[in-house]
Amino acid sequence: MIRKHLQQHCLSALLLLCTVATQISVAAETPFPRPQQSAIASPHPQATAAGREILVAGGNAFDAAVAVSATLAVVEPYGSGLGGGGFFLLRQSGAQTGYVFLDAREKAPIKATYDLYRRDGKVQTALSLNGPLAAAIPGLPAALVELAERYGKLPLSISMAPAIRLAYQGFPVDRIYQQRATARLTALRDDPESARLFLRGGEVPALGTLIPQPELAVTLNRLANNGRAGFYSGLTAQSMVHGVRAAGGIWKPEDLYQYQIATRAPLRFRLDDQRELISAPPPSAGGAALAQSLMMLQQLPWREADKVQRAHYVLEVLRRAYRDRGLLGDPDFVANPLNHVLDREYLVHLAGSIAPHEATPSASLEPAPPWREGEHTTHFAILDNDGNAVAATLSVNLPFGAAFTVPGTGVVLNDEMDDFAADPQGSNAYGLAGSQANSIAAGKRPLSSMSPSFLESPNEFAAFGTPGGSRIPSMVLLSMLEYLGGQPIASWPAVPRYHHQYLPDVVEHESDAFSQDEMTQLQSRGYRLKEVPRGYGNQQVLLWDKTGKHVEAASDPRGLGVPETFDPKVRQTAP
Ligand code: DON
Repeated sequence: MIRKHLQQHCLSALLLLCTVATQISVAAETPFPRPQQSAIASPHPQATAAGREILVAGGNAFDAAVAVSATLAVVEPYGSGLGGGGFFLLRQSGAQTGYVFLDAREKAPIKATYDLYRRDGKVQTALSLNGPLAAAIPGLPAALVELAERYGKLPLSISMAPAIRLAYQGFPVDRIYQQRATARLTALRDDPESARLFLRGGEVPALGTLIPQPELAVTLNRLANNGRAGFYSGLTAQSMVHGVRAAGGIWKPEDLYQYQIATRAPLRFRLDDQRELISAPPPSAGGAALAQSLMMLQQLPWREADKVQRAHYVLEVLRRAYRDRGLLGDPDFVANPLNHVLDREYLVHLAGSIAPHEATPSASLEPAPPWREGEHTTHFAILDNDGNAVAATLSVNLPFGAAFTVPGTGVVLNDEMDDFAADPQGSNAYGLAGSQANSIAAGKRPLSSMSPSFLESPNEFAAFGTPGGSRIPSMVLLSMLEYLGGQPIASWPAVPRYHHQYLPDVVEHESDAFSQDEMTQLQSRGYRLKEVPRGYGNQQVLLWDKTGKHVEAASDPRGLGVPETFDPKVRQTAP
């Protein structure tokens, strides 16, 4: 009896095993599209080269994202880095495509309070912009560890090797470095460690000057070898807390020790033509603005419209989408009414409030609290041969962040605290009101505009993203419209830019966005135009045509990026 029972038991166990094995092999055999080529679009040739090196070494898109992020931390010390944070949007290829949003946004220190920047009743803007009091707790190092441990195939020590090499060797100063250092010259001069590393004789270095960062190399190496413990505890953490406090900051060891990235469900929004937007959820306001804008545009004949009429539609949907930003904040602290702002009936109604030929004064719309933002950041996109993909926007906020380098670590700290509404009730230095949802609180993440995004349909996959503060969502939208309008990939990042953010009620535009005649037409519709002094943004985009397996990439002509498409399995012969 017992024997029979055992036999039956074994038989069912065997059957179960067979079933599981069959399921596994069915799953393994279920075909899914693969591009068979890889692509990288990044803002710096050295970062693209690092990503390529890691794909050729057998890494996947997530390992390459580690390599590109770590390299950008070295060659764009003004844009992103270990002292900053960012968002990684991941596409995991497979029989079922998976999407993940890694929120590595910096968090306010434990000692941060609602009135952190108020002195004698007035908010002091400089305190949230320069020096260690402006710095929130960095998230990028934790994101690199997560990417390598949970999603990648290679250890951090391999994926970070190109960056560590470059930090020791140094990289030559380029024109973008010069622009950013010039913009932050006074703040860099004020911090002896930043001045020593990033200036020469207190001046912006000449083109081609080598910038070695040996202390950063040691810090990167510690992270590469020890993972989380190599940054958030131990020697690096001790130096950071000590350096910040000695210069007037408020960090505590627990701030670093307790920092965790958040793995969130991306914002997903179904569009027409079986297309879906996959983008950044709060604490980014960007994904919601893109979903709202695209949905409103679906109600309008933008494709057939001439340039001025199309600009009118775009400006009006942006005006309405940006108005709702004041409702959003860190989802771990405030309720984000996404159901409301993404409700289709609500958006159809909003689109219906757009007059066919006239600007709607923002003052005539119900007000929502506006905000202000910083001026530098970075973005890249990667697709591997299997269809795994990453779009990542990383930041230290203003160029060179808080312009404070922690002595002995080479780590430039962010000034992301300035993305909070330092004065939710009153107005900030620009005369703009803040929002309660984005007020300062210990451990809270400041609201962001960073919007790494995908548009995916059964036949195509496209990735978008750019730095550019509050203008990020409008830049991404304009690139998406180029794509949806059937334009070649080179024009997605190149298209001249214009922007509206509800308040101030003005259209900011690049000098070549409109002809004189088009400007006159827009003015007669009631728009106030303001030319912005330089080309802004640095968009990096990818396209994978799943039917033909064809892959393309493009970098913004305003930057230094060199896009590449290649098959990492094919050995390159020396030219
Ligand atoms: O998170 C944000 O929205 C800002 N800290 C991003 C700043 C930025 O993109 C500046 N870029 N040029």
